[in-house]
Amino acid sequence: MLTVAVLISGAGSNLRALLEAARHPDFPARVVVVGADREADGLAHAEEFGIPSFTVPWHEHESREAWGEELGRQLAVWTPDLVVLSGLMRLLPSSLVAAYAPRIINTHPAYLPEFPGAHGVRDALAAGVRETGASVIVVDDGVDTGPVLAQERVPIRADDTEHTLHERIKPVERRLLIDVVRRIATGDLSLTSAP
Ligand code: GAR
Repeated sequence: MLTVAVLISGAGSNLRALLEAARHPDFPARVVVVGADREADGLAHAEEFGIPSFTVPWHEHESREAWGEELGRQLAVWTPDLVVLSGLMRLLPSSLVAAYAPRIINTHPAYLPEFPGAHGVRDALAAGVRETGASVIVVDDGVDTGPVLAQERVPIRADDTEHTLHERIKPVERRLLIDVVRRIATGDLSLTSAP
């Protein structure tokens, strides 16, 4: 059974979808802990599912490295096989990436390498393109630059707002994320040989 730690910053709707999938006895992975960089609303999902959680507040640390060290200490308690960044809106320090690489994956609401960064949905709308997408990638030291594990296109409608477009992308992200976690757990997808 693959053990998974999930890190969030926000509402945690993708986390919730993973928790629901992992509750199924046939699902080959279990979420063992949820961590956040703030008092994220999504921590309530962990509580509801009886999953332990922790918070390492970004603003209580003097540097990214100090924050990352504490995050690493908290994660190490759970010895997760896989770390999923599911809406964590912070870059991990390279020391923490190195500690888990390539076993850290990230969901992103755009068709990478298009529109990386914190505003993937907004940036796609601003660019005036007709389609964007959702991606699941391996985390490396860059901003959304790691190998793509799964991605899918999502059309943009003329009347889309950032909210409506993001709400259409999220179900695609969830499906891709759950499928990637399942394939990693069953050995169908190897992170070490990701392109
Ligand atoms: C998701 O769309 C995720 O891909 C995005 O934040 C959202 C979190 O939603 N992450 C990024 O943009 C990272 N660059 P959620 O908290 O409801 O799951």
